[in-house]
Amino acid sequence: MPSLRACCEPNTVLTKGNAAVILTVTPNPCVDKTVFIDTLNIGTFMRSQKCTCIPGGKGTNVSRAVKALGGPTKAFVVVGGHPGAHVVDMITNDDGVECIPVWVASQTRTITTVLEESIHRQTAFFEPGSRVTEEEYDRILEIFPEALDEARVVTFSGTVSDPAIRDLYHELIPMAHERGIMTILDSHGPELARALEVKPTMVKPNVAEVSELLGCDLDSDAAKWDAVQTLHDRGIELVALSLGKDGAFVSRKGERYAVRPPEIDEVNPVGSGDALVAGFAIGLLEGMDLAEMARLGCAAGTANAMSWDIGHFTADEVTNLVSQVTVESVA
Ligand SMILES: Nc1ncnc2c1ncn2[C@@H]1O[C@H](COP(=O)(O)OP(=O)(O)OP(=O)(O)O)[C@@H](O)[C@H]1O
Ligand SMILES: [Mg+2]
Repeated sequence: MPSLRACCEPNTVLTKGNAAVILTVTPNPCVDKTVFIDTLNIGTFMRSQKCTCIPGGKGTNVSRAVKALGGPTKAFVVVGGHPGAHVVDMITNDDGVECIPVWVASQTRTITTVLEESIHRQTAFFEPGSRVTEEEYDRILEIFPEALDEARVVTFSGTVSDPAIRDLYHELIPMAHERGIMTILDSHGPELARALEVKPTMVKPNVAEVSELLGCDLDSDAAKWDAVQTLHDRGIELVALSLGKDGAFVSRKGERYAVRPPEIDEVNPVGSGDALVAGFAIGLLEGMDLAEMARLGCAAGTANAMSWDIGHFTADEVTNLVSQVTVESVA
């Protein structure tokens, strides 16, 4: 069976090559609905001819992207009510990803994005996420170790739904490390700051998230590399600072790369960071070298930005992009 490594060879179809899985953790998933209209008229009743719905909340996007790349993945989600059941159904039946739900009484949120096709403008409405009681929190901590059984890499994406469980990643990451499982953190705000204390294997912030964390502007390449070093100094082995259309700065154990995607017609970059995380997760699972996984992650992020739907690119599209990504070693 061909290895996922084959994705770095152009025009190769990716297939599952590993029994171990990439477990994605989404504490605050959503029903991610997009309503397509021509132009928004505030204060009027608007009818739409097209509406799409996917399971959202970052980690679910990572699972969809891993699956698109032909990788093995399971999704651990905290869900509640009918919208929660809808999320589990979409992950399982639309995305074809095995789902490990932890049920809470409070309802999963819906995020509704209105896309004005005439001017390509998005307006999004975020409902509040589920509240989580102490008993429910304990249940998350109880079920998570079982979900780790086949995991070799675990990704922690997005924020938590309830400030009362802000320590969630701080508690879950060490559980993975105790079992020798690698971890990737992609969050922001207090969750990022707190989870960094337990030293995930890799972090994937974008510039705004690092600026917020460190309280500084990253307006030059030197400032960005300084920020990467600060994260290493806090005990993070692998740092990928994503830069949108400018690619990413990637660094591990003294090896540093500026990774740049080809120029594309950007359609929707939302979820590109999740696709990048998927590429790195596969890279870590497969034991790729840093440059190779950076190329894959960057190409997956770019493929995602080329269409409206999040994580719905094909492995062929990514393999074609991989050869167009440049990786420059930085002293
Ligand atoms: N317009 C673009 N052109 C080419 N590549 C892109 C573009 N936007 C994003 N990418 C690719 O996707 C990667 C991640 O994108 P970005 O830095 O926007 O992530 P992000 O801010 O975490 O996004 P999100 O949180 O919405 O998933 C980039 O490093 C780059 O490789
Ligand atoms: Mg992101």
